[in-house]
Amino acid sequence: MKLTFFGHSAFQLETGGQTIQIDPFITGNPLAEGVVSADDLSADVILLTHAHGDHWGDTVAIAERTGALVVANYEITQYLGMRHNYTNAQPLNTGGGVDLSWGRLTNTWARHSSSFPDGTYGGNPGGFMIEADGKCLYVAGDTSPFSEMAWMGEDFDIDVAVLPIGDCFTMGHAGSVRAATMLKPGKVVPCHYDTFPPIETDLDAWSSLMNQAGHAPHVLAPGQAMDV
Ligand code: NI
Ligand code: MN
Repeated sequence: MKLTFFGHSAFQLETGGQTIQIDPFITGNPLAEGVVSADDLSADVILLTHAHGDHWGDTVAIAERTGALVVANYEITQYLGMRHNYTNAQPLNTGGGVDLSWGRLTNTWARHSSSFPDGTYGGNPGGFMIEADGKCLYVAGDTSPFSEMAWMGEDFDIDVAVLPIGDCFTMGHAGSVRAATMLKPGKVVPCHYDTFPPIETDLDAWSSLMNQAGHAPHVLAPGQAMDV
């Protein structure tokens, strides 16, 4: 699997001939400026962790242009159908999984909130466990650490965990170390930082803290990719 970062919580995952956009907040994302345009993104699948604008982002435009399958919680898929007449969607709620031709997705709990930019209720926030090509990628979404992450660390052999680190709206540095200790991933990729003043962070300090705790931090600059 090839994972590319577009800044904030927007990632592109390529596996099994599929291009998967995760939380495609591109337009208005200062970190994505000059890196990528929503009009240029290809997508077979779009994964949404929750309905907040900094994750929902360009979902409708990309979905309408590409016809991608949108995987999100029930409320988000209903909203797509009712407000946007977009029905190529797979609902997936907490603890539920689905087998697709290229891999398996499991919706994981996230301790956060979820409403659309227009105020509509967005269902429960979540994250995704993505198993494909013999690898396992965990995208936590916006969350604090939570104790069931220990179960996730037992149940899944996580190669890469994408964790928010920007504090204020999600876990910060110490929280992400606690999460990594439970999840036991091969590498930790940080997200949800430096996009806006409230979540500016010291990446070097974060990397040092992760290293000290025995984990393997892997920072991606916007536009940069890694093999999972
Ligand atoms: Ni959020
Ligand atoms: Mn967010």
